[in-house]
Amino acid sequence: MIIAVDGPTASGKGTIAKALAAHFGLPHLDTGLLYRAVGRQCFIDGGDPDDIADALAACAFPDSLLGDPELRSEATGGLASRVSVHPAVRQALYKRQRSFATQPSGAVLDGRDIGTVIAPEAEVKLFVIASVPARAERRFREMEQAGREASLESIAADLEERDRRDATRAAAPLLAAEDAVVLDTSLLSRDEAIARAIALVDLIR
Ligand code: C5P
Repeated sequence: MIIAVDGPTASGKGTIAKALAAHFGLPHLDTGLLYRAVGRQCFIDGGDPDDIADALAACAFPDSLLGDPELRSEATGGLASRVSVHPAVRQALYKRQRSFATQPSGAVLDGRDIGTVIAPEAEVKLFVIASVPARAERRFREMEQAGREASLESIAADLEERDRRDATRAAAPLLAAEDAVVLDTSLLSRDEAIARAIALVDLIR
């Protein structure tokens, strides 16, 4: 069984994907982390994330970079969203995601284009959404716990900017697959969202 979990940043898709993987005993890939690694590598190289050649060169990041805590930062998320605009970058990361999705055990992948591009044949496609205020509030609390400072307004502005870039890019824009089920987590607690997702998978598969 392949489970595709797509949606915007801080919608709860990562938490849901991880919980589904644990519940159904499937391996999980957070594909955003790959784009974050490219953005981070581009920054380390002193490259320009908007430049195709610089972004493409950064796709050769070492696997050790995937463990770097800096990948989770808002700044790296912004860089990821800039390098992910280039079709050549998406192509360079395609094979890795595709082999993960098609391994015999099945898999859970979360990202932006899993149900539309990486695994259009997935048995289950969830499109996880939440309002900007709900997402900003969650991100704010996460950052507070991590001891990092940020204002709710600047987080909300960053989210909207990233949504706009992800939804309007020509290559694999953030878009629900036609056969995806939309799960709105705005008013749900973490546990409620997970329970709802598990129930949906049981219903669909
Ligand atoms: O999900 P996450 O916030 O970690 O993703 C960071 C950025 O990587 C997103 O804003 C998006 O631009 C890009 N991305 C993508 N396709 C994916 C996963 C992430 O373009 N499958």
